[in-house]
Amino acid sequence: MRERVDREVELIRLLKDSGFVFVSGELLRRSLGVTRSAVWKHIEALRRAGYTIDAAPRKGYRLDTSKLPFNGVEIASRAGTGRIGTRVSFSDEVDSTNTEALALGHSGEPEGTVVVADTQRMGKGRIGRHWVSPPGVNLYTSILLRPAVLPMDAQKLTLLTAVAVAETVSGFLGSRPSVKWPNDILVGSKKLAGILLEMESEADRVKFVVVGIGVNINMSVSQLDAQLRPSVTSIMEETGKKVSRVEFARALYSSIEKWYDLATEAGFDAGGFTPVVEAWRSYFVSEGKPVKVVSFDRVIEGICEGIDPDGALLVRGPSGKTERVISGDVDPV
Ligand code: BTN
Repeated sequence: MRERVDREVELIRLLKDSGFVFVSGELLRRSLGVTRSAVWKHIEALRRAGYTIDAAPRKGYRLDTSKLPFNGVEIASRAGTGRIGTRVSFSDEVDSTNTEALALGHSGEPEGTVVVADTQRMGKGRIGRHWVSPPGVNLYTSILLRPAVLPMDAQKLTLLTAVAVAETVSGFLGSRPSVKWPNDILVGSKKLAGILLEMESEADRVKFVVVGIGVNINMSVSQLDAQLRPSVTSIMEETGKKVSRVEFARALYSSIEKWYDLATEAGFDAGGFTPVVEAWRSYFVSEGKPVKVVSFDRVIEGICEGIDPDGALLVRGPSGKTERVISGDVDPV
């Protein structure tokens, strides 16, 4: 399976390198080290994956590079990273990319494997919510990580991912989005992206973490139910321009890899998380403002004092005491 994908990535690279010029079947056969009929089978598979490839007798094959699809070969072949996003499990439709990635985690797939789908039937949001996942427009991806951290430190990856998503979104928006604790990416008060972390752990050891990310890229809010429209946006809604989902995914994986390497090389509990917290704060706009936090067991209203070095939210209540919040939903009041 892996070999087949690697060959298809290589085949597409060879066809792209030649521009819109025919490449002979013989040259492809020799470069890939396979038979001519195997080349033909790969070409057929690539056509099914959305590529437009002409075949002509005695000339060979030619790729139409003006119509590149959104698929796993495109994402993997253009990943500028060492690990994250070089192994891609792509589907047109799944229940949830997080559910798929959890299964890959259990079956021993390596760190950095990503799951991408064009649409999700049952996209999962935080706190049991549904993540609306229309086809053809957005990015729904889940990244499998195997960090050597304690279970209590794994949540820090949520903030780390929020920094990477905010950084990537900035590059495409041309302006900085904001983060809402712990992990919503907003433009003004409208949500542009969300993150859902799930993990498999033992008492003192994380087996693996799945970082699920949904980014509204080319979606028009008119595609959504009326009650959601005022609180949701997309890159296209903000800029009036369409963005390549492959380009976005590639930039996102490389940003996550950069922050992940930085944090894990130094060690999460040995200062490696400090630059992540600093970067996260630079996107946070609620510090010093009145907020209401609804967590599973209580509601706290007070002045937000930012986050502590572990990423917990600090809220000074009416009594003057500062509360430390580790999970919940925060809204301005
Ligand atoms: C949130 O509620 O803000 C979190 C939303 C996370 C959505 C993404 S889409 C890709 C991945 N697969 C899922 O089922 N959920 C996450």
